[in-house]
Amino acid sequence: MPNEGHVMNLFSRASGKTGRGLPVGTRLRQSVREDEWSSLFAQIAVYSFGVLLVTGVFLLFFFDPSMEHVRYGGSYTRLDGAEVSRAYASTLHISFDVRGGLLMRQVHHWATLIFTGAVFCQLVRMFVTGAFRRPRVPLWLAWVAMSVLGMAAGVTGGLLPDDMLSGGSLGLIQGVTQSVPVVGTGLTYAIFGGDFPGDVIVSRAYWLHITVLPLAIAGLFVLRHRLVGRHGPGDVPDGRARRIPQRPVSVAIFFYTVAILVLLGTFAQINPVWLYGPYEPGAISAGAVPDWYMGFLDGAVRIMPGWEIDIAGHPLTLAVLVPALIVPGTFFTLLAAYPWLERRITGDHSVHHVLDRPRDAATRTGIGAALVACYAILWAAASNDQIAVDFHLSLYAVTWFFRIAVFIGPLLAHTLTRRLCHYLTTREREEAAHGFETGRIVMTPDGGFTEIHKPVHRELTPAAAPPQARSS
Ligand code: HEM
Repeated sequence: MPNEGHVMNLFSRASGKTGRGLPVGTRLRQSVREDEWSSLFAQIAVYSFGVLLVTGVFLLFFFDPSMEHVRYGGSYTRLDGAEVSRAYASTLHISFDVRGGLLMRQVHHWATLIFTGAVFCQLVRMFVTGAFRRPRVPLWLAWVAMSVLGMAAGVTGGLLPDDMLSGGSLGLIQGVTQSVPVVGTGLTYAIFGGDFPGDVIVSRAYWLHITVLPLAIAGLFVLRHRLVGRHGPGDVPDGRARRIPQRPVSVAIFFYTVAILVLLGTFAQINPVWLYGPYEPGAISAGAVPDWYMGFLDGAVRIMPGWEIDIAGHPLTLAVLVPALIVPGTFFTLLAAYPWLERRITGDHSVHHVLDRPRDAATRTGIGAALVACYAILWAAASNDQIAVDFHLSLYAVTWFFRIAVFIGPLLAHTLTRRLCHYLTTREREEAAHGFETGRIVMTPDGGFTEIHKPVHRELTPAAAPPQARSS
């Protein structure tokens, strides 16, 4: 049922008004109108990014991005007298001595997880509904870029506390940059400013984290807002675009997002750096896993065989290069290039203002399912050690399972999803032609039995499906 806001919007379209000439009260009610599910993830991403900015600015006042070593003397007595970096000491200070500091840190970290999750969900949603097609290709690219920048912001943020987990990430970054052919050693030297881990990496990550990356993400949000406003809702059944300014504001979703983040930050402990201890090169903590959005990379590294080949006397470490650079590089390049790939393969160069239902584009939905399956399997592979311990299995058996699953799983997901889509559309066509089965069996005069079929309501058939949601 359309709600009151929806009716208001329909009225303003019918009367040809864009909102400007309406009374203030009406405009306000329109501005809180956003009720389409298709913009849900985009809104959660915007609001959690807002939370990241607010909590991040709070943390700025107390965090010290320095690798200089000091003796810890704060409230966490177990580390009393330990030699730690200023970055680590200030993170403990925020957690134990600053009023509300731990809450802010935890909310900041939870907001990272929700923000990256919302961006990935938005990408999946846009993919399966074909929202990346012309004229919304730039919008798609903005979201792909946002996913990469969000991950980079999460990784640089995770490096800042200089605890054992950040040290583990630093070690991985060093290994990956060193595996780059020809320039690897120079690149590592440039990033770390000398030997590993060096004194400058935390402050470099800090400036990247608090200026470049948030500004770039904020810029993408502004771009997204403009693009959505320019192309209009894209839900006009006759295919003509109308320029109705979109106001992606939902007060309710804003409050839900903030409330859930604050509740998580209050009750669900995250990144307890005092338990991990300060980073010591050469040490690594057991059972350590990265934040969820980096899990697929970790999984890829874990299941890759330890291959290394020799080219003209130079070692090429495929064991690191393939999973940590080639796999994610190919994944995100393919994702960004998908609108052009699909256009080329299908020959469909037309402009689309109405979104597809996933079932109506079975092949594309199947490809989406395959990509999600591949991602999920790599992600699960990041816990191969924990799975082996918890289920009393051999670590090698679990690793081999994931090595095979990463190829078979996506194929299976693709085939099953395509079949499901075909089944759903065939059933709809049959129902449109013969009506749907009511479950009422009646006896015919000659003693036979037949089931009563009822005609399908017009709105339920694909041809007369309700206007698709807008692309945001
Ligand atoms: C998309 C944007 C951002 C993401 C994904 C992000 C993510 C993170 C993460 C995962 C941490 C580690 C938190 C922890 O210790 O558990 C962190 C720390 C930090 N972030 Fe951000 N952040 C973002 C934006 C910002 C902004 C805009 C600022 C400041 C203006 C900021 C300032 C900080 C500071 C000072 C720390 C270190 C304090 C600490 O670790 O306790 N962040 N960030």
